[in-house]
Amino acid sequence: MAERAVTMEKLVALCKARGIIFPGSEIYGGMGNTWDYGPVGVEIKNNIKRAWWKRFVQESENSYGVDAAILMNSRVWEASGHTTSFSDPKMDCKKCKTRHRADNLIEAHSKGKVNPDLMSDAEMEAYIAEHHVCCPNCGNFDWTPIRTFNLMFETSRGVTDESQNKIYLRPETAQGEFVNFLNVQRTTRAKVPFGIAQIGKAFRNEITPGNFIFRTIEFEQMEHQWFCKEGTDGEYYEEYKRRAFAFLTDLGFSPEHLRFHDHDKLAHYAKAACDIQYLYPMGWSELNGIHNRTDYDLTRHQQYSGKSLLYVDPTDNSRYIPYVIEYSIGADRLMLAVLCEAYDEETLEGGETRNVLRFHPAIAAYKAAILPLQKSLAPQARAIWETLKKQFSVTYDEAGSIGKRYRRQDEIGTPYCITVDFDTLENGTVTVRERDSMAQIRISADALSGYLADHCVF
Ligand code: GAP
Repeated sequence: MAERAVTMEKLVALCKARGIIFPGSEIYGGMGNTWDYGPVGVEIKNNIKRAWWKRFVQESENSYGVDAAILMNSRVWEASGHTTSFSDPKMDCKKCKTRHRADNLIEAHSKGKVNPDLMSDAEMEAYIAEHHVCCPNCGNFDWTPIRTFNLMFETSRGVTDESQNKIYLRPETAQGEFVNFLNVQRTTRAKVPFGIAQIGKAFRNEITPGNFIFRTIEFEQMEHQWFCKEGTDGEYYEEYKRRAFAFLTDLGFSPEHLRFHDHDKLAHYAKAACDIQYLYPMGWSELNGIHNRTDYDLTRHQQYSGKSLLYVDPTDNSRYIPYVIEYSIGADRLMLAVLCEAYDEETLEGGETRNVLRFHPAIAAYKAAILPLQKSLAPQARAIWETLKKQFSVTYDEAGSIGKRYRRQDEIGTPYCITVDFDTLENGTVTVRERDSMAQIRISADALSGYLADHCVF
């Protein structure tokens, strides 16, 4: 596998310098595990979400979108099992007072050779003691026993702070899809199998620091639940594995940087589960999950709500609770992987280095930058910008030498630079410079819109 230029330090620095991602609440000294998307970053993330929605909702037969409330009736989280079992095994270092996940300590210590998912809390404590796994922060070995903390953020509604008013910030978007199963089915007249998708914020009180936007306490999920008849679930599980993988390679991921990882320990409700892992700078780790959730979720919601969630099959009038194949991917996690995959440093003739984000054009914040060769050509360049911006996200830049302006666009991954020069005044043509090859072609300014439409579609 070819050596890659990307490191997390370089990526964080580039993102900050180029308005992609800033540390959250930075002027107050920051707030752990929170990040703010800047002007370029918000465009990239929106494009990622758009590409996912297009693939899994708009272009998917029988898939429908919802945008459910973040704050849900607390009974939802009792039914889903989150109030009782959504927790991580945490240990505190008594010396430096930092908190760590026991499973992460074991994974890091064994360099991924030991799978803590298969261990009980007692076994994890025994491993940490036997291998003298020290605190990654201060290097001491002085741990509290493992304790479990629920990862859900609690808040309360109303003016009094009584326990019956306790509500939660949703830790996953999936439950908004399950509770709307019959609403969607009835209003769309969908027949099983069909899908419900949602993109939205989720919140988890994660304590493991680091790795940039890999694991944050507030993040966006893109989740798709495929409701199907028991017996067909195995075939759809395989289909969603294929579709999830193809989405990534179509976005430009090298298959060498992706792999499937079957879960050794299944959640009590799951029949099968796997991740697609990506080779981040810190090593292989989860990018998305595909789960066969059986009929667990709808059965539990039927039980806890007292409302029938039976589907009536119009072909034979049979009634059943469908099985669910879930495909879930974090928008921020995918953003990180997209940035890692796109990051490149290229040594040019003459020894100069250029940093370039080699995104799929559909993901880039700007499809093109319009650059007048000299300031005197600004009116012609701005006229092109005025036309193109009605159709595309494009930017205009007249500051600095043309070489520096190309570099700035390379660094944020703009796929095309359109240069207006003195020939433009003569014959109405412009140069279009392609980001990756730096090759230039000359086309009529009138053809730009068609050119970008052809080259930036996902
Ligand atoms: N509904 C299933 C579910 O939520 P999950 O594996 O906990 O499953 C799904 O999360 C995806 O959400 C992960 O594969 C990852 O991409 C993303 N994700 C989970 N926790 C995250 C966090 N703390 N920060 C960023 N992304 C996260």
